[in-house]
Amino acid sequence: MNLENLPALVTGGGSGMGAVTARMLFGRGARVAVLDRDVDAARKTAQQIDGLALEADVSNAQSVEAALQQIVDKWGAPRVAVSCAGIAPASRIVGREGPHDLDLFQQVININLVGTFNVLRMCAARMAELEPLSESGSRGVIINTASVAAYEGQIGQAAYSSSKGGVVALTLPAARELSRFGIRVMTVAPGLIGTPMLLNMPNDVQNSLASQVPFPSRFGKPEEFADLVSHIIDNEMLNGEVIRLDGAIRLAPK
Ligand SMILES: NC(=O)c1ccc[n+]([C@@H]2O[C@H](COP(=O)([O-])OP(=O)(O)OC[C@H]3O[C@@H](n4cnc5c(N)ncnc54)[C@H](O)[C@@H]3O)[C@@H](O)[C@H]2O)c1
Repeated sequence: MNLENLPALVTGGGSGMGAVTARMLFGRGARVAVLDRDVDAARKTAQQIDGLALEADVSNAQSVEAALQQIVDKWGAPRVAVSCAGIAPASRIVGREGPHDLDLFQQVININLVGTFNVLRMCAARMAELEPLSESGSRGVIINTASVAAYEGQIGQAAYSSSKGGVVALTLPAARELSRFGIRVMTVAPGLIGTPMLLNMPNDVQNSLASQVPFPSRFGKPEEFADLVSHIIDNEMLNGEVIRLDGAIRLAPK
């Protein structure tokens, strides 16, 4: 897809994989909206790429609708939407303090799963009204971020794994339904990627985690995530699928 001057949206674009993806899209000529609940972080990314910083909580319908309206008013509806916003708090189902906090479980589901769906449904509705971009009738692509924890969640990841499992399960029915509009839906399931989430951990923990990756034995780079997103955008046959980006890691129970 030629992205020159096409509008694109990246949620969670203030940090980590979202920020690098926003820069990749800008490098390909897109007009990039950087959505994050941390507006200072969104501004920081947006400033580097002549982008539009948007403060919004992906789990909130009005908040995302208002942000999307700003993109539509400025550039038109996004042709590419990449959902990177997410949180990953750890908590045991039965911990020292008693059962898992239900509010925390609901918050993780709300941001990671409901938030991803919220962005998908609103972007899809706007994209569906656009003219096709190619002879095949393609109108755009929506790319979600799950995690390998969707498949082999560790102890303490009950909420996170449930949320990311939901994103995995959402991918095919969304792609099937949106195919009539020429909108593709794909999901990336990263393994261990070197973003602030992991790089803020103590060095020994980082080394131990990285050594569990069969090959290459290191954290993935956010640029490798962005490269995959870039390929998904270009490869029209990729649809309704989840791609692991993980150096063959299969997470151990803990
Ligand atoms: N880093 C990893 O190893 C890894 C592995 C697998 C999956 N993931 C997933 O990849 C995605 C990106 O992760 P990252 O490592 O770049 O994380 P990160 O913490 O660097 O960035 C996440 C961004 O999302 C934003 N955000 C959080 N909740 C939000 C909300 N409700 N509304 C809007 N913005 C919100 C944060 O402010 C932050 O800027 C996440 O969904 C994460 O679960 C990360």
